Amino acid sequence: MNEKVPVKHVTITSEIQQYVVGSGLVQDDVLRWIVERTQELGRPAIQQIVPEEGALLTLLTGLTEARFAVEVGTFTGYSSLCIARGLAEGGTLLCCDNSEEWTRVAREAWRKAGVEDRITLELASATETIRALPREEHIDFSFIDADLRNHAEYFDELIVRTRRNGVIVIDNTLLRGRVAHRERDEDAEMVHAFNERLLGDDRIESVLLPFHDGVTVVRKVG
Ligand SMILES: C[S@@+](CC[C@H](N)C(=O)[O-])C[C@H]1O[C@@H](n2cnc3c(N)ncnc32)[C@H](O)[C@@H]1O
Repeated sequence: MNEKVPVKHVTITSEIQQYVVGSGLVQDDVLRWIVERTQELGRPAIQQIVPEEGALLTLLTGLTEARFAVEVGTFTGYSSLCIARGLAEGGTLLCCDNSEEWTRVAREAWRKAGVEDRITLELASATETIRALPREEHIDFSFIDADLRNHAEYFDELIVRTRRNGVIVIDNTLLRGRVAHRERDEDAEMVHAFNERLLGDDRIESVLLPFHDGVTVVRKVG
């Protein structure tokens, strides 16, 4: 008999979100300061990652014992600070962004947190910045969170420069659930195509976490 297996899942309500954030997430004064400064920007503030994603980034950076990390999309600095805090002793983070205005907040936050000596910010097109890196497997950890249309290109440029067992985290891979709709809009179609491509890539193993807006964690295996 073909019995249906019950699906065990939780729909994340704001109450559950509060519970997750409240259960052990450490958000210090500098991270809170970044959130407050970002809220003052109004509508662009929606671009900021959520606190639990920041905690995941610190955890994964630490797990990879990253000595060299790359961030694509820095904005006001929340994720960069989380990554910088996970770096191994002597490790450095290269931040890619093209907004001087938004990254001014990030620079101030790095100074307040005492991590400015671990971070280099390149204000330019992220593709150009990544392509300027040696085409050698020297990156331990990357986070992609910039303009969706270029995520596949950032991934392609980063994966060839990532060492074996290095990790790449990609944000917005569920696109507020639109990738799963029967009729996808253009952006959802593009993100879906990217997700499919990752599944067929034998250089990596990956998992798409149904977390915030969808977060894919990739490990380079070959
Ligand atoms: C979603 S926000 C990043 C949020 C950030 N990770 C955080 O923790 O708050 C995207 C950022 O990517 C930057 N960006 C967009 N297109 C870019 C490009 N082509 N090159 C470099 N930076 C870009 C924007 O200026 C913006 O700051």
